[in-house]
Amino acid sequence: MKVSILSGSIRAGRQSHKLAGYLETLLMSKGVATNIIDLSIYPLPVMGSAENDHTENISRVGSLLNESDALIFVSPEYHGSFPGVLKNALDHFWKEYNKKPIGVATASSGKMGGINASSQLQQVILSLGAYALPLKLLVPEIQLAFAESLEPTSPSLVSSANKFVDEFLWFADAIYQKKQQKMGGN
Ligand SMILES: Cc1cc2nc3c(=O)[nH]c(=O)nc-3n(C[C@H](O)[C@H](O)[C@H](O)COP(=O)(O)O)c2cc1C
Repeated sequence: MKVSILSGSIRAGRQSHKLAGYLETLLMSKGVATNIIDLSIYPLPVMGSAENDHTENISRVGSLLNESDALIFVSPEYHGSFPGVLKNALDHFWKEYNKKPIGVATASSGKMGGINASSQLQQVILSLGAYALPLKLLVPEIQLAFAESLEPTSPSLVSSANKFVDEFLWFADAIYQKKQQKMGGN
């Protein structure tokens, strides 16, 4: 099973990308092939616009999504929601997300951990025809959550992130196994 983490911030000095990196490390420590889809490396044109820049990234990101059996969306909260750049990456694709298990991890600089962005993302995941993991990972005060070494600064983040990843893997593996069985004709 291959997992991709779609990182929703492209801002210089972005904090939530550290959470994406930590989740990647955790998944890999549990033996799961994982990669980060970084929208700052693959900028996408605004969906439906006549922009000619970076159009090659549409098929690059599409292929990365296609190769993924399960996804985690990592997003900051901007103005009570998730960033437009992430919505744009969702709107470009459909079948690449369809019927895939997707976990949501959000972050904010305040105390609420991006709860509005997380709920809205779960709703959009359903509209993509994908399966939202009920458990979410919310990380408040993201600017304090990781040391310079990128290690988490609090035991509670280590514990909540492990719980989230374990639950995500149980959910993702159940769907993955079912798809494998179907492909094998069972
Ligand atoms: C445009 C913008 C809007 C924001 N709106 C909110 C908000 O509505 N609620 C909140 O808790 N934090 C808000 N913040 C603070 C972010 O959660 C915080 O800056 C976080 O580090 C952003 O993630 P990033 O650094 O990965 O881009 C906002 C930040 C920006 C840049």
